[in-house]
Amino acid sequence: MIKSHSKKLFFTVLALHMYSSAFHSVHAQEKPSTVYAEKGYLTFDQKPLGSLEKPLVLRTYVPSGGVSHKYVLPNHSQGSNSPRYSAGSGKESTKEYEPIDGVPATIAVNLGKTLSYVWDTTECRLLYAWTDGFLDMQNYWGGRASGQRKRFGYVPKLYGFVFYKAQGVHPLRINEKSIAEIGSPKYVGYSLGKDRLPSYEFKSGKHSISVKVSPGPSTQTLRLDFTSTSNENLDFKSPNTQIKQIQKKPGRLSIEIRPNAGERLSSDEPKVVIKKPTLEIGKKLYTSLGCIACHSLDGGKNHGPTLKGVYGAKREFLSAQPLTVDEAYIRESIQKPMAKTVKGYLAGMMPLYKLQEAEYESLILFIKSVR
Ligand code: HEC
Repeated sequence: MIKSHSKKLFFTVLALHMYSSAFHSVHAQEKPSTVYAEKGYLTFDQKPLGSLEKPLVLRTYVPSGGVSHKYVLPNHSQGSNSPRYSAGSGKESTKEYEPIDGVPATIAVNLGKTLSYVWDTTECRLLYAWTDGFLDMQNYWGGRASGQRKRFGYVPKLYGFVFYKAQGVHPLRINEKSIAEIGSPKYVGYSLGKDRLPSYEFKSGKHSISVKVSPGPSTQTLRLDFTSTSNENLDFKSPNTQIKQIQKKPGRLSIEIRPNAGERLSSDEPKVVIKKPTLEIGKKLYTSLGCIACHSLDGGKNHGPTLKGVYGAKREFLSAQPLTVDEAYIRESIQKPMAKTVKGYLAGMMPLYKLQEAEYESLILFIKSVR
């Protein structure tokens, strides 16, 4: 049952890719678009979206997202510049092509506006996750009417708000050893569960592992359920990433991941420029940027300090002089969280947020109001 499900999906996606290349190389006489569209295989939407009930699963190139090549992508080869060559003159130019900033053969999944993520089938790990959008496939699939697929830049554009990025070597540890030490992971395939969420299967050394990726309990959190065929001890360790263990048994591990990044990426949707900071905007940002995942507003302790009554309160730090919380300190905390670490909390947990000026100011207005 499950297997055939995944096969179907895979072939749908494959059909899509085959279609797009056939369409652009051969000027088909009979419009294949109508044939495929009638059969319901095709979407012309270059910004496709799935939903929680109907996840969209695409096998595709994706941007590297700035993750570390050395630690996160060690099994991908790294390109180097190559000379430009003109077929007309037969000459090489002094200009060079830079390698494409893309990761091939990933699986990009969208569950609607609230969650998208990329799982890499070479490294067999999650690369990054984001909200507020998915991928703009124009570069890859081409334009609607006349193609215009980009020849060398065929990496879809990621748009939305990235809240998680893979850090360090492969985070899964079996009996205290990282997959990075056990042996290059080998992707086996994915299957869809009853809830239609994908689980990915891979091998490393003698271990067969499966991981299911689902939305976490609040926005901008993720849940990962690992299973391995033998009863090994599983752990998940990643630098600068806050992990909450939900369940652990021999051969099983369930965790939740908190945000460790905060970056709104290129989007060709009109950028909303905020002219005047307001408390209301701050309140909205507080939820949409995921601050709430770590900072309660009611005094409850969480991964970060509660922000109730923080304005004007005294703070002590790991290695900085104590101070009374003012606007400058709140701004620094959001813009450069590494500058000071509140005593009793972990350094490097709080993501760095790249925002518009008025967004910082709106957040400050809101945080000041939480008494
Ligand atoms: C992954 C968890 C996490 C997220 C998400 C997060 N923070 Fe933090 N934040 C922390 C931690 C941990 C600290 C304390 C350690 C430190 O100072 O770096 C902190 C510290 C702070 C402080 C200083 C608080 C104090 O009591 O001195 C402020 C202000 C703050 N964060 C605001 C924000 C805002 C605004 C957002 C959303 C835009 C946000 N944080 C998102 C984890 C998080």
